[in-house]
Amino acid sequence: MNLRSGRLKGKMSNEAASFTSSLEFDKRIFNADVELNIAHTTMLAKKEIIDSKIADKIINSLKELKKEGIEALKLDPSVEDIHMAVENYVTSKIGDDAGFMHTAKSRNDQVATDLRLILKEEIKIIGKSILNFIQKIINMADEHKETVFIGYTHLQHAQPTTFAHHLLAYAHALKRDYERLMDAYKRVDMNPLGSAAMTTTSFNIDREMTTEILGFSQIMENSMDAVSSRDFIAETVFTLTMLASNLSKICEELIIWSTFEFRVVEIGYEYSSTSSIMPQKKNPDVAEIARAKSAILTGELMTILTILKALPYSYNRDLQEVTPHLWNSVDNAKEMLSIMQGMLPAIEVNKERAAELAKSNFATATELADILVREKNMPFRTAHKIVGRMVTEALENDVSLQDIDSIFLDNVAQEVMGKPLNLNDKLIKKALDPYQNIKSRTVIGGSSPEAVKKAILNLKSFLDYENKK
Ligand code: ARG
Repeated sequence: MNLRSGRLKGKMSNEAASFTSSLEFDKRIFNADVELNIAHTTMLAKKEIIDSKIADKIINSLKELKKEGIEALKLDPSVEDIHMAVENYVTSKIGDDAGFMHTAKSRNDQVATDLRLILKEEIKIIGKSILNFIQKIINMADEHKETVFIGYTHLQHAQPTTFAHHLLAYAHALKRDYERLMDAYKRVDMNPLGSAAMTTTSFNIDREMTTEILGFSQIMENSMDAVSSRDFIAETVFTLTMLASNLSKICEELIIWSTFEFRVVEIGYEYSSTSSIMPQKKNPDVAEIARAKSAILTGELMTILTILKALPYSYNRDLQEVTPHLWNSVDNAKEMLSIMQGMLPAIEVNKERAAELAKSNFATATELADILVREKNMPFRTAHKIVGRMVTEALENDVSLQDIDSIFLDNVAQEVMGKPLNLNDKLIKKALDPYQNIKSRTVIGGSSPEAVKKAILNLKSFLDYENKK
């Protein structure tokens, strides 16, 4: 059935037809569109809005189409979208009776419903993938609870930690990404079907029935809102953008850590490239590409928000332009997650180098200041000043951390506060030992193997709970 033959005199120009066609990215919603039509037609028959024999013919032909798959459709730009292609297929099988399936339904509520149905599936897949990644990170963390590592702030040596503690920072960011995505899911899981073009219909349809058949948790209670809102897309794409941004941070660290200058990590050969001219090169191309791909998601989010801004109610064809950006975001997020899950567990940590960095450059200075506070009952600010001055003196006189003793410290204390500290040398050594620093951070969230073990257990029970859902 040609949709245009009533109101419009003649065909759209070929250029305009392909300019406005959504067929290419509608392929993604093909299955949902068939399911939706089966659900809607079933409901129409049950409510005696259409003849049940005709409904059966429509449903059988839709089931046939489901079996045959999208290839059974004639997809060319003269067919505006997948909704028309599906209807045309049924018409080709059963004739004009196919037209009954469009009773009390518009492509406006149809596309919104299809998008939601498919996005729900995609969110579940991405959610599972995040959980798998967290599991892999936890497994790595379990092995690296004692691996001394250097932590940075401002990308300058800050404090010693363990590689496990650092990995758990990734795991917790991913946990929030997962939770955000699942929260967005609730608002994707709402049914617009029955809103028709924008004000519902005067046919006595049963929206609850189609909501149940299609497996939605809620009905959208305002039909204008239902056909015109795409905030569920903007919200989901934001959560994916945040996820990608978090993944890009991991990539950035792998890139930095694998440099000759850092040398704390070796990226697997299967995730490295070489140079066409420099034979010695081992480049972290996979991490670089993944780092860059997070920008694609940021761009898609901006595009989507910009399309939505200031659109008048209710349906506008502009909304069609949101769709390809949604799928591109979904695909890029999935690809990034998948590659990262292979690449991160395949790294090798250079434990000797990491331990060496953790004890150089006065990374343990905070602990020394803390000991002054505890042992000498002095304000932290005074301790901070003494240790700060001590570091400057040591650097200026080429004294290494290992050579700091109570005499050296007392000279500085004398200068800063007019009296010596008389601190026990053993205590000083303990304060300056990276592993002792780590071990003493036993509070919740801390770097001690004990605190990390607890955090791993908590993450494991989170994963168990979510995986059972
Ligand atoms: N292809 C359209 C979309 O993605 C389908 C819905 C409505 N089309 C219309 N002319 N009202 O939004």
